[in-house]
Amino acid sequence: MPYLLGLDVGTSSTKAVLIDTDGNVIDTCAPTYPFQTPRPLWAETDPHLWWDAAIKAIRQMVEKVGADQIVGIGLTGQMHGLVLLDAQGEVLRPCIMWNDQRTARQCEQITRKVGASQVLEITGNPILPGFTAPKIQWVAEHEPEVFSRIAKILLPKDYLRYKLTGEYFGEVSDASGTSLLNVAQRKWSDSMIEALGIQRSQLPELTESPVASTRVSAAAAKLTGLREGTPVIAGGGDQAAGAIGCGIIREGVFSATLGTSGVVFAHSDKYRVEPEGRLHAFCHAVPGAWHLMGVMLAAAGSYQWWHDMLGQEDFEALNQGAAKVPAGAEGLFYLPYLTGERCPHPDPNVRGAFIGLSLRHGKGHMTRAVLEGATYGMRDMLLLMRKLGLSSDRIIASGGGAKSPLWLQILADQYETPVVTVNAKEGAAYGAALLASVGAEVYPDVAAAVNTALRETGRVDPGSDAETYSRLHPMYQDLYPRLKPHYDRMAETF
Ligand code: XUL
Repeated sequence: MPYLLGLDVGTSSTKAVLIDTDGNVIDTCAPTYPFQTPRPLWAETDPHLWWDAAIKAIRQMVEKVGADQIVGIGLTGQMHGLVLLDAQGEVLRPCIMWNDQRTARQCEQITRKVGASQVLEITGNPILPGFTAPKIQWVAEHEPEVFSRIAKILLPKDYLRYKLTGEYFGEVSDASGTSLLNVAQRKWSDSMIEALGIQRSQLPELTESPVASTRVSAAAAKLTGLREGTPVIAGGGDQAAGAIGCGIIREGVFSATLGTSGVVFAHSDKYRVEPEGRLHAFCHAVPGAWHLMGVMLAAAGSYQWWHDMLGQEDFEALNQGAAKVPAGAEGLFYLPYLTGERCPHPDPNVRGAFIGLSLRHGKGHMTRAVLEGATYGMRDMLLLMRKLGLSSDRIIASGGGAKSPLWLQILADQYETPVVTVNAKEGAAYGAALLASVGAEVYPDVAAAVNTALRETGRVDPGSDAETYSRLHPMYQDLYPRLKPHYDRMAETF
């Protein structure tokens, strides 16, 4: 029986997921590694660690089913990371990762040079500190010797491809997060390349996501146990691949991922840009389609923080306490900006808060407020998507937070839309394996692969609290602009 392998170069592990052609998960493995924060705001890691972890994970999969049975490998990974290689293909410096925030000044410089409206028009987004282009500019300024030796600029999963195949290739969904792509035209932007003082030849060729662009080399076959010549499919950035794995492949379905970050994701048949750049507009991993995405930095991350603060109680007990409290937590709001925010307020200075505390409020109120606050923040993004003409007849929920029935009910109530869970639980690596099944010609297109693999496992309909939330959401929305001057002042002091 043929099998497909998905590989996800994550922040702390390289995850492998092996599936059969019906989309059933056969095995998973996720060897871990650390990343470093050498200075405040910095986040770096050694790309060799991804490859070492990948070798380990692939070997386990090969042992399970035999190399000849693996007919395609799909790649995905953390987006936005900067991997620099010299002319010999050696790593020039540690990868500057997606969560690195050192480049605020470089973002401003490039934006000034190209023009804010041009940047938005070309790249679909403002230039944000986590994105790749300002990191290149940072290296040019601070490490000119490294900059002068750059032969190739790769994203994390495309570095893994290079190690697996010896070839430099990328694809459009991940490239959308570099600020170097003309997102409407799905090709590198000459204007952005020129503004950064780099060469087109330093960037890899791009394809659409389900394309078998490369093949496993003899050297990589020896290290991993894979068969030489196994097709390596282009794959996608972790958000696009994760969305494929949840079935977001047509207009009318959104996903809400309640991971550390909270992501609202919508497929779009045409290129749409939020006029103020408050949502990301990227190419989707479905050929010829785009997606809009809002990323909140601390969604389940807020809940984890709150849980850890309390020490003893498990999530189940916390959920039960919160379920006893009425919607709106009797006037208590929580702002989820624990690590600053990205969408819809790109603001590193803003911080979290409980607003409206009274003697009446106990642990259950505060837990409920945390869940409601994170969900309001994601509703901000959902409403922006609706303003752009996208509608949703259901929302697919995933991530650790989707294990909480209470949180799913709050989602359904706040979004006034049925919330559905699906059988796929392995995130981006699973989506990459589905893309591989198309590249390996098991399925003719992404829809056929997804429709075979996915089925609904649960559904929560909006209930009577929907009205309360639509009354309270504007009060939540009021808080950020009112508090912003305070947080900016705080940032000067702390
Ligand atoms: C997407 C994003 C994260 C990273 C790390 O824009 O920043 O999803 O890709 O997972």
